[in-house]
Amino acid sequence: MPTNAMALSQRARSQRTLQVALGERSYPIHIGPGLLGDPAWITPHLAGRQVMIVTNETIAPRYLELVRRGLPADLEVHELVLPDGEATKTLACVSRIWDALLEAGFNRRCTLIALGGGVIGDMVGFAAASYQRGVAFIQVPTTLLAQVDSSVGGKTGVNHPLGKNMIGAFWQPRAVLIDTATLATLPAAEFSAGLAEVIKYGLIRDADFLAWLEEHMAALRALDPEALAWAIERSCQIKAEIVAADETEQGVRALLNLGHTFGHAIEAHQGYGSWLHGEAVGVGMLMAADLSRRLGWLGDAEIKRTQAIIDAAGLPLAAPADMGVEEFLVRMRLDKKNIDQSIRLVLMRALGDAEVYDDTPAGLLEACIQDYPRK
Ligand code: NAD
Ligand code: GLY
Repeated sequence: MPTNAMALSQRARSQRTLQVALGERSYPIHIGPGLLGDPAWITPHLAGRQVMIVTNETIAPRYLELVRRGLPADLEVHELVLPDGEATKTLACVSRIWDALLEAGFNRRCTLIALGGGVIGDMVGFAAASYQRGVAFIQVPTTLLAQVDSSVGGKTGVNHPLGKNMIGAFWQPRAVLIDTATLATLPAAEFSAGLAEVIKYGLIRDADFLAWLEEHMAALRALDPEALAWAIERSCQIKAEIVAADETEQGVRALLNLGHTFGHAIEAHQGYGSWLHGEAVGVGMLMAADLSRRLGWLGDAEIKRTQAIIDAAGLPLAAPADMGVEEFLVRMRLDKKNIDQSIRLVLMRALGDAEVYDDTPAGLLEACIQDYPRK
């Protein structure tokens, strides 16, 4: 085979496309190394000629030029580079996106490109949902966490000092372009944070995938391309199925919040950015596992397995030393899943089988939080 044809066929093999099936709002998730810079992936999803790439100051020097080069030459392309960090996930930052769009005279037939991790994706999605009552946007996630979770499913928004992700909207992207090559520059701690969400899919939905992750954790942390491709693809498959079944979280989508009720409490209490989202979710999943054990659903062997995989992913196991029962409960009472006064939790009947549970006895929850290891 000629070299070019061979390269093309290899590329075709390493690129996969999944679909988020949402009727007329359906969209593809393209996954593979080297998608950025190739107009074939992005051009079909652009609305109109006005495009704004929004990214942050860490990602811009690495990938902004590549994305710009991958856009057709006849477009009006603008760029906005925001500051970095979870603490910037605020309405003030979203307002900077609205300002830039208005100053550049963007009309409703425009496209925003979210180039970055979950913070950029959530903010740009919210700006797109609200600018002139809704414009097109494309997710170009560059962290593992964003590639397996936040870029898919249309949850957009910002944090409030009193609670994580409290202000936002459901607004689906036109496409998700996952260039797995961008993970090569991701710091190891951020990669581990993304692994927390990958493990989550195994814990809530797929015991075989969990077992595969246990076996391949070292390969994943070494960025083995085959292992990485499967972990991202399987995670996106599970997320796409759940989102297609329950776009606005009336039911099954809540399972994606395993560990998040505890985790969001940690993030908000510690100050946004001091714990990575995935680190807090990892500890939250262990707390949910412990509560499931107290309800008689999981045994000691399942607890050990859950701890071992979180540990193998390079994530912390202990909760913050300065958070007592009340510090957790104050934040957990504000969780978006709650109905009336009860705290809804995602718990595990077995590894790979989670459910939303409303009836945790208050004393059991308090004892779980009280006894959980601190550091
Ligand atoms: P992040 O967006 O803060 O990115 C982590 C860090 O990595 C940042 O410093 C970023 O600049 C840097 N970075 C990104 N890509 C890089 C690359 N390729 N190379 C080098 N550095 C890179 O954090 P995150 O973990 O991606 O996302 C966390 C956020 O996502 C939280 O706000 C969380 O609430 C949100 N989230 C949303 C959903 C959803 O469904 N919308 C789901 C899960 C999480
Ligand atoms: N990350 C939770 C969700 O998308 O529903």
